[in-house]
This record gives sequence, structure tokens and C-alpha cells, in this order.
Amino acid sequence: MRVDVVSIFPEYFTPLDLSLVGRARANGVLRLAVHDLRSWTHDVHRTVDDTPYGGGPGMVMRPEPWGDALDALAPAELTPGGLSPDGLAPDGLAPDGLAPDGLAPDGLAPDGLAPDGLAPDGLAPDGLAPDGLALPRLLVPSPAGEPFTQAMAHELAGESHLLFACGRYEGIDQRVLDHAATRMRVTEVSLGDYVLFGGEVAVLVILEAVTRLLPGVLGNAGSLDEESHAHGLLEAPMYTKPAAWRGHEVPEVLRSGDHGRIARWRRDEALARTATRRPDMFAALDPASLDKRDRAALDRAGFQAPPGHVAK
Ligand code: ADE
Repeated sequence: MRVDVVSIFPEYFTPLDLSLVGRARANGVLRLAVHDLRSWTHDVHRTVDDTPYGGGPGMVMRPEPWGDALDALAPAELTPGGLSPDGLAPDGLAPDGLAPDGLAPDGLAPDGLAPDGLAPDGLAPDGLAPDGLALPRLLVPSPAGEPFTQAMAHELAGESHLLFACGRYEGIDQRVLDHAATRMRVTEVSLGDYVLFGGEVAVLVILEAVTRLLPGVLGNAGSLDEESHAHGLLEAPMYTKPAAWRGHEVPEVLRSGDHGRIARWRRDEALARTATRRPDMFAALDPASLDKRDRAALDRAGFQAPPGHVAK
């Protein structure tokens, strides 16, 4: 996957050299480039902000540097025709924005894309993108965005090119997003119902959640299936050695070696935890996914399973 990040604080992204994200970069699974928005300014002060029209506190990011940054990282020649009125990508691109043909099986952009993401060799004479070159998906972190979820992480992990625009202050002039939306998919995304100083931390979070879903990044891909949020449930608590620690014992069932009982216990714990901690997730559970034993476990924990068809 190719990722470009534009920010006035490129130093924020040094942690992406570490740990499994760092390894994904070293392996080439993640091809990340961080760009300083100020390199697209043209005045001596390298100005990126100004006062808001209509008044009010704070500053707004000016459109010009953003426009030039997006033009450089998602060149117009690669996104011919703009989006159709129904908001779908131009002809030949699937609605999810993935290129239908020619995308390498590992999801990487085809050869010929320059590492800095600027115009690749091999543009067709008519200026159209070569087959298989996916449009970038522009992501703009904002407290006013769509909530970031594990489902969105999976969706983003299926993209071949993400472009993040990190706003600061009171945000980016809306026309930058409106103009970008005429030629690429734009999603404003929120980490949660609180306000950060800017989008940088949100990008770190989103990139970590997405990178661990890329093929080959996690040693044991099975763990993706069991973790919290994988099936609309929180995960059961986990334990390791020693069996007793400061007077607290690992539950006997986990030491029993009885895989059936262990799986049942974990499911019961996951259900009870979800009902207790996340009533919103509990209410959204598909009733048909809860069998009689699930319902009995919830009953014992003092919760009423959502009504509906009971799975066998
Ligand atoms: N920028 C400021 N606050 C944010 C939030 N909650 N999520 C994403 N980006 C933000």
C-alpha cells in the first residue's frame, strides 16, 4: 500500500519507523512518504493559515498550499474526468475505487510509480492514467468526520493509495475538500468525540490500525479473527504465566486444556463484557448470531439478549 501524509509537523511521524509499522515499511508492504505542507508555500514566512471569514476565534488553513500539495501527490493527469454526479469514480474504476485491472495481487500500484508518488512514467499519450493505477483516497482527520471504526480500517486496508491531509488550527478551508472531491474520493474521519490539536495523532492511529490488517504484517493472521471488534464483540480477558500472581489466579478453565470449555468461557466473557461496557455494540448485535448458550450466558450475567430469531 502506498501512503502519503501532508502535515506542517512531519516530525510527528517518526514513530512510524518503529515496531511492526516500521517493519512493514522496511519490507515494502507499506510505502510511506511524509511531506511538509510548507514546501508548497511561496512566501518568505511560509504561511499556511489566516483568519476565518465571518469572524470567530482561531485560524484556518489557507487553500493554496493544500491545492498545490494535492495537485503534486494526486496529479490531475491521474484522475481524468473527475467524479460522476453520483459520486462514483470515473469510468473503469470500481465503486470502491480499486482499479479493476492490472493491480498487482499484493495490492501494490503497478511498476512505474515513482517512489515520491509524483507523476509516474508511462502516462498514456492522452494523459490518462495507465490501466490499473488506482486513484488515491483522500482522508482528512477532523472531529466533524465519520467515526473511524475497525470496519473502516478494513475498508482502507483494501485501498492501494491513501493520502492523508492533516489540518491544524480550526481546520482546512472547505474549498480544498470540495475541489478534491471533484476528482477523488474524500473522507473526513474522526477518531472520536473529542478535539485534538490537529490530525497528526489521528493519522498515526489510523495507519497503525490499517497496517496491521495488510497481508503479511501480522505473524498470526488468526489473531485478527479473535480480537475485539472482529465480530461486534469485545474480546475476553487474556492471561499468561504465572498461574497465580499477587493472590490473583488465572481462571481454572483456561488451565484445563479443554478447548471446548475454553472457547465457551471466552465467548461468555466476550458477551458479558460487551453488554456491560458497550451497550451500543450489544444493542447492535445480530440476534441471529446468538444461540441458546449465548442467551443463557447473558441471562446469567444479568442481561437480556436482543429479541429475535434464535440461532441453533
Ligand atoms: N482533529 C481534531 N480532532 C480530531 C478528532 N477527534 N479526530 C480526528 N481528527 C481530529
